[in-house]
Amino acid sequence: MTKVLTIAMPKGRIFEEAADLLRKAGYQLPPEFDENRKLIIDVEEEGLRFILAKPMDVPTYVEHGVADLGIAGKDVMLEEERDVYELLDLKISACYLAVAGMPETKMSDVAPRVATKYPNVAAAYFREQGEQVEIIKLNGSIELAPMIGLSDRIVDIVSTGRTLKENGLVEYERIVDVTSRLIVNPVSYRMNDDRISELVSRLSKVVAEG
Ligand code: PRP
Repeated sequence: MTKVLTIAMPKGRIFEEAADLLRKAGYQLPPEFDENRKLIIDVEEEGLRFILAKPMDVPTYVEHGVADLGIAGKDVMLEEERDVYELLDLKISACYLAVAGMPETKMSDVAPRVATKYPNVAAAYFREQGEQVEIIKLNGSIELAPMIGLSDRIVDIVSTGRTLKENGLVEYERIVDVTSRLIVNPVSYRMNDDRISELVSRLSKVVAEG
């Protein structure tokens, strides 16, 4: 009896692309996989269990070993710095992290404020630039912050660029490109090397085919 592998999947916008990739790699996921509200989905025929997590929490489940594997954005990996291995760039959900703000505005000279869901990434970025900023952590709708005077700048994900545009914001600097990664718990990797290597090889082929 082979061990069931547990995969932490991010709920939300990455989920669909990740499920599509797994299906293309030949894993038989039932149609209700995409539809129901269950947080744990067993696919017994494949020896897989999926847990559906908030994207920012995926590396936490994997680090603690309650999931063997996970799918996490590079943005989340950079922010969380968890003790996990990155196995494969899945090249899905491509976007980037950028500094944005109201057009033609300068950062205030005294303690400029930066609103973000990524306080660690933002702090590291401005430190590297030699700029001292005050980070304001928000959990969503980050673009609101400069519009209502909460911050001078934001650090946030840009995907299509529509949210910035429709709210009259402009991009100032691009920080880093982001795609989703397959991650693994280091101990699980050693213990389930065969099955995990097979998963990686099947997914790599799909990724390479584009
Ligand atoms: C993300 C991100 C931006 C938006 C960018 O927000 O924080 O707001 O998507 O996408 P776009 O460039 O295609 O407009 P998300 O929808 O995940 O919600 P959030 O406000 O909760 O962060």
